Amino acid sequence: MDFRQEIARALAQRTQMSLEEIDSWIEIPPQSSMGDFAFPCFRLAKTMRKAPPAIAQELSDVLVDADFIERTETAGGYLNFFVNRTSYIASQVKNTLNAGYMFGSSDLGSGKTVIVEFSSPNIAKPFHVGHAFTTILGNSLAKIYNHLGYKVVRMNHLGDYGTQFGKLIAAWQLWGNEQALVEHPINELLRIYVKFHDLAKDDPELELKARDHFRRLENGEEFEKSLWQKFRDLSLKEFNEVYKRLGVEFDNFNGESFYSSQIPAVIEELKNKKLLVESEGAQVVMLDEFDLPPCIILKSDGTTIYASRDIAAVLYRDRTYNFDKNIYVVGTPQALHFKQVFAVLEKAGFEKAANCEHVGFGLVKFPDRKLSTRSGDVILLENLINESVDKTYEIIKSNSELRQTNLPEDEMKMIAEKIGIAAIMFTFQKNSRERDIVFSWEDMLDFEGDSAPYVLYTYARAHSILRKAQANGYLESVDEQVPEAVLDLLTSDDEFALAKLLDSFGGAVERAAQANEPYILLRQVINIARAFNRYYHNESILGTDDEKLRRARLGVLQAVCTAVKTGLDLLGIQAVERM
Ligand code: ARG
Repeated sequence: MDFRQEIARALAQRTQMSLEEIDSWIEIPPQSSMGDFAFPCFRLAKTMRKAPPAIAQELSDVLVDADFIERTETAGGYLNFFVNRTSYIASQVKNTLNAGYMFGSSDLGSGKTVIVEFSSPNIAKPFHVGHAFTTILGNSLAKIYNHLGYKVVRMNHLGDYGTQFGKLIAAWQLWGNEQALVEHPINELLRIYVKFHDLAKDDPELELKARDHFRRLENGEEFEKSLWQKFRDLSLKEFNEVYKRLGVEFDNFNGESFYSSQIPAVIEELKNKKLLVESEGAQVVMLDEFDLPPCIILKSDGTTIYASRDIAAVLYRDRTYNFDKNIYVVGTPQALHFKQVFAVLEKAGFEKAANCEHVGFGLVKFPDRKLSTRSGDVILLENLINESVDKTYEIIKSNSELRQTNLPEDEMKMIAEKIGIAAIMFTFQKNSRERDIVFSWEDMLDFEGDSAPYVLYTYARAHSILRKAQANGYLESVDEQVPEAVLDLLTSDDEFALAKLLDSFGGAVERAAQANEPYILLRQVINIARAFNRYYHNESILGTDDEKLRRARLGVLQAVCTAVKTGLDLLGIQAVERM
């Protein structure tokens, strides 16, 4: 049973308001002494033409006959509901177990399509930690939307076009090394790109050559095209290794190049609408009424740019997927770019411009290395992952020696890989995305703090109790269904607290999607882990003499495992059963 829904239904019926509206007004009081659910009656003051306290009084008997409500209290303009603990706890545990890994899902988005564009690294450039941020956030958002019933299209808008490819082609002709390219494509491409930049400062000829190559590429000349294709394929192969390690997948890798041929149609459209004006030889759309600088569509040499390719991409996405929502997980420094793109579309009368959203995020900082990703020096995601995995391995190894668990070497390696990656994924999602991230290995790998190891360890511990229960013959299997009758034995404060967190899990998934903020869900998962550890500390589970109560408590454990594992999975993190 969904208690909140039942309360909303009763109130809606009595007040003849819509169920959705009433439901959205119901609050969870900050302290349970104030009730388990609260209804702010001032919301009805206008329609009922009464003072809120009088309304609270009048509504206070809505659920007198329902046994799932113990009592109601009025406090000022609030009507507070106290649920019947026993039935509440039993019902939350049962719901969780019945839902399994669909726990917290809904059909909120059914029939709707959301495009999540994320990662979008640049071909021939290193995959640095800034791209890790978008990759991790975007992956979670795609999973979260999917859990809410949306059809999700995961797009990787590769930076595979632009004048820099003209430079690369020019540089390759001069200094390219075939063998190095095949062995370490991105290293080699970066090497010649950097060399090009150094020399081009004193040699304007080079720039001219590069420009010419890019123009020829846009014209589809065979030589340029095949080189470009080769650079793209090799780079993507390298990126795919990182994606595989992180467990991230895409439906579509249409990069910027894909839209190049669609630009003439965009130009035509903008011309017809009389929106294109010439400015210093370039074709631009003026955006004064949006308080934005003009958006360049075609450069003076007639080539396309980043923004024009993005405009074409929005139109393509709409034609192909008929999206309801189109979100871009891209660093906040590009906020202006997206404002311009969306404004051009709006000015051109494209209604769904309003359904496009830039989901920005902050910078990544490494205090001990004294650099941020924007200061030029880059930290490769691959190196960061390796470092995290190595450090985790050391911790696991010393813990294993200390506790004499004697995990086999290859198992320790496997666990370290999972936890090391989880620690990074966790760090990027721990706070609101707009906040800069200051990397600290100490916090990331703190087994007691708000960290991936803490949550994973909690899960592994809960799971190990279930395994022990099975070994002792208390359970047929770790996920054997708990008989409903015994759940009525659960009444403790800790069980009640856990039940509440199970109850609000689905709401956290929804809020995470609404705000495009995975951290909201991550906090919920941490809270469940903390509440479980308190429970485990205060109550004995396997040592409970009463066989039925023991079975019921194991049911709570199973529910905690389901919730934590589902939550982690939605955050792109794989739980481990042993560590
Ligand atoms: N490739 C760009 C970069 O690395 C990000 C692309 C963002 N997406 C877009 N549709 N413009 O900075």
